[in-house]
Amino acid sequence: MTQTAWGAGFATETLDGEVLDTWYRWLGWGEYEGGDFDDELVAVERADHPSAERRGVRVRAARVTIDVDEPPASPGDAYLRLHLLSNRLTPPNSMNLDGIFGALNNVTWTNLGPVPVERADEVRVAEFRDGRRLTIYGQDKFPRMLDYVSPPGLRIADADRVRLGAHLAEGTVVMHEGYCNFNAGTLGTSMVEGRISQGVVLGDGSDLGGGASIMGTLSGGGKEIVSVGERCLIGANAGIGISLGDDCVVEAGLYVTAGTLVKLPDGSVVKGAAVSGISGMMFIRHSQTGAIEARARTGKWEGLNAALHAN
Ligand SMILES: CC(C)(COP(=O)(O)OP(=O)(O)OC[C@H]1O[C@@H](n2cnc3c(N)ncnc32)[C@H](O)[C@@H]1OP(=O)(O)O)[C@@H](O)C(=O)NCCC(=O)NCCS
Repeated sequence: MTQTAWGAGFATETLDGEVLDTWYRWLGWGEYEGGDFDDELVAVERADHPSAERRGVRVRAARVTIDVDEPPASPGDAYLRLHLLSNRLTPPNSMNLDGIFGALNNVTWTNLGPVPVERADEVRVAEFRDGRRLTIYGQDKFPRMLDYVSPPGLRIADADRVRLGAHLAEGTVVMHEGYCNFNAGTLGTSMVEGRISQGVVLGDGSDLGGGASIMGTLSGGGKEIVSVGERCLIGANAGIGISLGDDCVVEAGLYVTAGTLVKLPDGSVVKGAAVSGISGMMFIRHSQTGAIEARARTGKWEGLNAALHAN
């Protein structure tokens, strides 16, 4: 069964019709049926957009219906998927995002709005001649989430660190060192001081310590999407390439990957992949032997297989 979503808003496109971005102010599930915002769509499209000529762009009203089970077919389609995530209308990994990089255009993101990459220098010079400085936030396919969506109940210390398409639940705090990619994020209250890679989801009450890293699947060959359960702590500068169940701790500075050899409470040694997703574990690197250990936080260890099913 396919699922459709609709969006209405404003596309910024080059004079050749290449869509740089689309800001969906109105969106939801189902087919586009119009609404009392139609007048505003028309008015904004017709309005004078002061920097548009300088940037070589025009603003067009966008009204779309998309099938989220099919790969993104256009920039406007891809932008609606990113908005659905950031507006918390759907959690990460719930839509088909195959080929999204190919669907989006590379854009220079500035304080004047999106600028075609090949025009950035011209705009910089023109602004300078007028006594102003052009500020460039980045040159990328994804813009900053907060330039499009302000989901309630969040603190984001540095807007540059959260891409549009991040899914951040109410109660999430993203500190300056924290980062959240598109199609990734949190499901509840979380402190994010490390990096949440594409596809990764943190459960309610989990903390990602300063500089910590969660391995993603976009580069480096990893295929398994990592997830973190509820009430976990991934210590400062730690990292995981395996999933964690609920109530797990990873010692500060320790990186546990799928191939890391881990000593279990019963003395056996297994690869990290074998303990992926288990609840109630504390991962440490023994400060005397250097061996990586997984200890049961409850003090009770019922064996690997039982623990695997406990989640
Ligand atoms: C892993 C961590 C939670 C362990 O903390 P702890 O207070 O030692 O935890 P516990 O008291 O439950 O430790 C259990 C036992 O393991 C021992 N232990 C902990 N880390 C160990 C290590 N690296 N090597 C050997 N033993 C270790 C403790 O000494 C303790 O031994 P004991 O039972 O004989 O007293 C802590 O070192 C840590 O890394 N916390 C992360 C904090 C953080 O980074 N927060 C984010 C900030 S941005």
